[in-house]
Amino acid sequence: MIVILGMLKSMSKEECSNLQEKELINVFDKPMKQEWWMEYGGFFGHYYVKGDNSLDGYLSTPQNLNERSQCEVEGLIRLLALQPNQRILDSPCGYGRHSIGLAHQGLTVVGVDINSHELNIANKNSQGLENVQFFKQDMRLLKYENEFDAIVNVFFSFGFFELEEENFQVLQNFYQALKPGGKFLMHTDVNIPRVLSGEYKFSEIRSLQNGKKLEISENYDHVTKRINGQWIFINQDGTKEETSPYSVRVYSFSEFSDLCQQVGFKIITGYGNWQGSPLTNCSEDMIIVAEK
Ligand SMILES: C[S@@+](CC[C@H](N)C(=O)[O-])C[C@H]1O[C@@H](n2cnc3c(N)ncnc32)[C@H](O)[C@@H]1O
Repeated sequence: MIVILGMLKSMSKEECSNLQEKELINVFDKPMKQEWWMEYGGFFGHYYVKGDNSLDGYLSTPQNLNERSQCEVEGLIRLLALQPNQRILDSPCGYGRHSIGLAHQGLTVVGVDINSHELNIANKNSQGLENVQFFKQDMRLLKYENEFDAIVNVFFSFGFFELEEENFQVLQNFYQALKPGGKFLMHTDVNIPRVLSGEYKFSEIRSLQNGKKLEISENYDHVTKRINGQWIFINQDGTKEETSPYSVRVYSFSEFSDLCQQVGFKIITGYGNWQGSPLTNCSEDMIIVAEK
């Protein structure tokens, strides 16, 4: 079941997204516009779910989607030392691949995301599991307080927003949602030293489960410190479909650690993979665990 919180409950999809946009103007004092990460922004949802189901894996590890999700769930449990019955927030949860995996391991999970298409898949795939719930929420507007033992933000899901203060607000919301002593984990496949040394792959073509190819082309803007990119699907007959372009602020380990300290996190540790190796300039993943 998807629960849309508070005032949004009895409204149509369109009214609901309009209302959210109006609310956002009040919160962040910026003009209303459709942004790429929104429900109807043209990147997440249908396109993202198909594109994520790659046969090639990502980075240099050949893993299909199930193998990748399993490796990440095991990594979350390992790096956060999670125990059964602990309460976890997965934000943003996408179509629920980590929330559901963690629930299968006995954790109690709340998954939040802004995209109804992905939340519908999450609900469908979690049928029969009583310890996972999904909610439609904007991560900039989360209002949880001292509720969770751990919060996870997995797979390049931090830094979507145009303003630095919006991204910072998300981190503040996570801090507020954690119990004292609780842990926050942020994972991305962008490790800035690799971007600067030219080792990060800015363009590639992946084979998808549905027989299409996915062409990814990205660039790094040194001034805005954002990765800008676009996905192009190549159908079997050669025709192409493009997503909206995306733009994500990417933080180095030291920048992200500073943000964590500013919101109040105490112990901040960097890892270079899900097995828990230390973060180095060559690490393909960057995983940061911060303790409240
Ligand atoms: C890269 S995906 C990762 C999802 C999930 N962590 C995973 O690894 O499968 C990022 C997700 O962020 C969601 N999202 C984008 N903006 C959001 C917002 N403002 N609030 C909540 N979710 C948002 C998108 O709908 C998408 O599902």
